[in-house]
Amino acid sequence: MVLLQTERLLLRPFEQRDLEDLFEYARQPEVGPAAGWRPHEDIEETREVLQNFLGNSGELAIVDRSEDKVIGSIGLTKDERRDNNRAKAMGYALNRHYWGRGYMAEAVGAVLNYGFNTLLLNLVSIYHFPFNEQSRRVIEKCGFVYEGTLRQAKGIYDGRVHDVVCYSMTREEYRNYCK
Ligand SMILES: CC(C)(COP(=O)(O)OP(=O)(O)OC[C@H]1O[C@@H](n2cnc3c(N)ncnc32)[C@H](O)[C@@H]1OP(=O)(O)O)[C@@H](O)C(=O)NCCC(=O)NCCS
Repeated sequence: MVLLQTERLLLRPFEQRDLEDLFEYARQPEVGPAAGWRPHEDIEETREVLQNFLGNSGELAIVDRSEDKVIGSIGLTKDERRDNNRAKAMGYALNRHYWGRGYMAEAVGAVLNYGFNTLLLNLVSIYHFPFNEQSRRVIEKCGFVYEGTLRQAKGIYDGRVHDVVCYSMTREEYRNYCK
């Protein structure tokens, strides 16, 4: 079982008891749309997502250690844009009440360490929509390298199509970044 600890956070697999905490941020109008998914309207929708997270989905719950509360998720999943088993795509979301405290950058650091040193990945990619300045800041702060922008690359739930800004970090870049 994956258990990653940072100064303020614990990253661990999701559990059934996380349903209420997951629903709390999955329903917030600022969270899902920034990542391309519709805010949850009822807890049954969240229950379904949680079922997927409980399997071997690559998604970890972000727990605020001081409150023992799930405040977000972070994961390494198949990169659909690359035909490479040693490459994984990172994705994340955080309860809006916890934004602006550097939590996600802290979580990303721990997951990069896990990805490169335990899963022995050769590359970690990450993507954001052009309007998502906050995510861009996290990505840049964490040392990812800008690759380019795929134009009109992602259709979302409301019918709009967005460009996708692409970043990645190779194993070598990770080593240099940590020096
Ligand atoms: C993206 C997200 C995880 C960021 O988490 P966070 O813990 O607030 O990140 P941080 O506290 O490290 O702050 C992010 C940075 O964005 C900056 N920022 C905040 N609002 C901003 C804005 N409107 N424009 C530019 N930068 C902004 C902050 O100042 C901070 O930069 P700094 O550390 O240099 O001061 C969070 O906003 C979120 O969950 N968003 C919705 C879901 C989402 O976008 N997922 C990612 C999809 S790619």
